[in-house]
Amino acid sequence: MEVFQKIIIIDFGAQYTQLIARRIREEHVYCEVIPYTTPIQSILSQNPVGIIFSGGPASVLDPDAPSLDPEIFDLSIPILGICYGMQFTAHALGGTVEKAAQREYGRVSVSFDLSSPLFRHMHASSFVWMSHTYAVTQAPSGFFSVASSSNCAFCAMQNPERKIYAVQFHPEVTHSEEGQMILHNFLYEICHCNGDWTMSAFIDNAVLSIRNTVGPNDTVLLGLSGGVDSSVAAALLSNAIGRRLTCVYVNHGFMRKGETESIQQVFSEKFPVNLITVDASQKFMDKLKGISDPESKRKIIGSEFVSTFSEQARHLSQARFLAQGTIYPDVIESGSVKGSAVIKSHHNVGGLPKDVSDLFTGGLVEPLRMLFKDEVRQLGETLGLPEDLVWRQPFPGPGLAIRIMGDITPEKVDIVRESDAILREEIKKAGLDRSISQYFTVLTNTKSVGVMGDERTHDYVLALRAVTTDDFMTVDWARLPYEVLESISSRIVNEVPHVNRIVYDITTKPPATVEWE
Ligand code: XMP
Repeated sequence: MEVFQKIIIIDFGAQYTQLIARRIREEHVYCEVIPYTTPIQSILSQNPVGIIFSGGPASVLDPDAPSLDPEIFDLSIPILGICYGMQFTAHALGGTVEKAAQREYGRVSVSFDLSSPLFRHMHASSFVWMSHTYAVTQAPSGFFSVASSSNCAFCAMQNPERKIYAVQFHPEVTHSEEGQMILHNFLYEICHCNGDWTMSAFIDNAVLSIRNTVGPNDTVLLGLSGGVDSSVAAALLSNAIGRRLTCVYVNHGFMRKGETESIQQVFSEKFPVNLITVDASQKFMDKLKGISDPESKRKIIGSEFVSTFSEQARHLSQARFLAQGTIYPDVIESGSVKGSAVIKSHHNVGGLPKDVSDLFTGGLVEPLRMLFKDEVRQLGETLGLPEDLVWRQPFPGPGLAIRIMGDITPEKVDIVRESDAILREEIKKAGLDRSISQYFTVLTNTKSVGVMGDERTHDYVLALRAVTTDDFMTVDWARLPYEVLESISSRIVNEVPHVNRIVYDITTKPPATVEWE
C-alpha cells in the first residue's frame, strides 16, 4: 500500500485498537496496526504521516510496562496518544502519572480548549468515554493541558511545536460524542492528510499489484465458498487477470436455497472466471450418515472439504498461485499474542495438506489482506457484485448441517433449507434484513403432537434464531415484531412438510452461542 499516505497505529494491547484503525479508514486515510515491539527503523521505513499510540491494559508505572524507544518523539512525525498512549507519552517525557484519586469509567463531560487544532470545529464541552485508573497529574515540560473534567485536570495535553498530542479518553468509540471529529482533526489539521484512501483508488492499485505478482502468463486458484470475502476476492482477481483465475466451488449440499445457482451465475456472467463446481453433496451425506455429535460433524465436513478441494488442486497443478480471501482482522489477530478458548472448531481456518500447498510455487495472493470487513463490502459494491452477496449474513462453513440437531438426513436438510428460505423472505419483506445481524432456522431433534385438519400429527419442532450484534462475541436476540413472527410461523407450518410447531430462541450469547451446534 505504498501509494497511500499511511498512519501507523502502535498497539499497546487495547481492546479498541482495531476500532481506531476503522475510524481512521472511515476518514479516507490508510492505516496499519503494528505491535509496540516493532523497531523504530521499521516504523520509519514505512514513511508514516502520523503515529497513534493505542490504549492498553497495563500501568506505565509497572517496571515491565510496554514501551517504545523514546526516539519516537524526536522523529518530527505527528503523534496522538490515546489513554495508555497518553500516559506512556507523559511518563516517557518526564511528566507525572499517578493512580487517580477516583477511577473514571464511562461517559464523562469534558471541557475542551478550542484553540487546540485537535478540537477544531467542536463544542466547548461534550461527553467522552473514559476508562482509566491512572492519570497524568503533571504534564512533561513543553506540554500543557487542553481538556479537563471535574475529576481530571489532564483529559488531553499537547506540545504543538513537537507535534505531540494526547487524550486520556477514547475518541474511537461512538460514546465519545465528538470523537470522530478529534480523529479527523488529527488527520487533517495536524498530519495534513490528503484523504487518498478510497475504494476506487484501492481497486486500481490492487489490480496493478495482482498483475505484477502473477505476471502475464501464470494462473491462480481460489476456493470460492459463496461467502463475502472469497466472492469479493474472486471479483477483484477476475478484474485483474480474467479467466486466468480458476475458482473451485465445493457444494457440500448444505448451502442455502438458491445460493449455488447465484454463485454460478455471478462468476460465469458478470465476473467471468474459470469456475469449477464440484457437487460433492452425496459424498458428504454418506460420510455423515448416523453422526449426531456436533464436533464430529464439523470435523468430518472440514476434512471432506479439504480433501475435495485438494483433489481438484492436484488436477489443476498448472496454477502457480493460491488466492485466499484473508481479511485484516485475521492478520492482526494472527500477529497478536492473545489466545482464547476453543468453543467450536471453525472448519474454514484449517490448512491444506503440505503436498497441495507445495504445488503453489508462486505463493499466496491475498488481495483483501489489509481490508476490514466493512471495506470488503464497500469494495464488493464498488466492483458491482449483487447486493445479496455483498450484504450476505454470516453463514458457517459447515452450513445447514450444524442447524440440524442430531443425525442428518436429506429430508431434514430440505426442512431447514425451505424454512430458512421462508424466514429470509419474510425478514426481507419486513425491511429488517440489514438491521438483524444473523437469522436462521434450526431443526430441533424433537417431535411434538399437533393437529392439522382433523388429524393428529407427530412432527418436528423448528426453532427460529435471530440476533443482533457488532462482533458475534456477544449477541442479543432480535426483538422481531409479533406480526413478522406470525407470518414466518404460519408460512413455515403451512409450506414445509413435517413441521408442526415453531418456537423462538430468546437467549443471549453468552450463555448460549449463536448456532445451536
Ligand atoms: P457461535 O455459534 O460460535 O457463532 O456463537 C458465532 C459466529 O460464527 C459462526 N459460526 C461458524 N462459522 N464455521 C464458520 O465459518 C463454523 O464452524 C461456525 N460455527 C459458527 C456463526 O454462524 C456466527 O456467525
